[in-house]
Amino acid sequence: MPFGDRDLDYLEKVHPALDAVATEMLAAGRAEKIPIVQMPVARFLRVVVAAVRPARVVEIGTAIGFSTLWMATALPPNGRIDTIDPDRSRTDRARRYWIRAQVGDRIRVVNEPALRVLPRLAPGIDLAFIDAVKTEYSAYLEALLPKMRPGGIILADNLLWSGRIAAGDHDADTDALRGFNETFLHHARLDGTILPVGDGLGFAVIK
Ligand SMILES: C[S@@+](CC[C@H](N)C(=O)[O-])C[C@H]1O[C@@H](n2cnc3c(N)ncnc32)[C@H](O)[C@@H]1O
Repeated sequence: MPFGDRDLDYLEKVHPALDAVATEMLAAGRAEKIPIVQMPVARFLRVVVAAVRPARVVEIGTAIGFSTLWMATALPPNGRIDTIDPDRSRTDRARRYWIRAQVGDRIRVVNEPALRVLPRLAPGIDLAFIDAVKTEYSAYLEALLPKMRPGGIILADNLLWSGRIAAGDHDADTDALRGFNETFLHHARLDGTILPVGDGLGFAVIK
């Protein structure tokens, strides 16, 4: 039997309760319709960071810093996150949340479009999380690949796009994500899968 809302409610309750900062961010995201990652994705990101112990994380799409916070709390002592988002009003809010959560010193924000920033990054990225403009996902992937270390991890959110991809819808974002999924799962340099977690989470290892 496939799992349903009752199972998701159970999973919410059985995990440790959220702290005050995460609770506030989640509420702000919901109230203002800021598309932040769903809780199962947030928790998964944290566990992956705890497992990989990355020194260098790159995030594409910061918003108010919710996914960044979950990754930052699991970084090893030498770990840093570069998070990219041109919207300074959102990232200024993110910075205030991170300071309250005592992870501000591990995070650098770059307020420019990702496709301008990625070519400038030094190689050797250990983990990347893609969560910005859907029509640019494939271009983010191609820009990231030469910068990732072998064995590094790429994650990408919204790969099921609220059911629109499987439903056969056609619009710019849906078509772009459908194309991205094909590339992500068949790319010669990636060993990847898409997990039915949250809105569909891509998870791949660099060969
Ligand atoms: C889905 S939200 C990110 C949510 C965040 N990862 C979280 O879960 O907490 C997408 C963000 O991408 C940002 N964005 C828009 N254009 C961008 C670009 N060209 N490069 C990087 N980020 C961009 C938007 O400003 C928005 O805040």
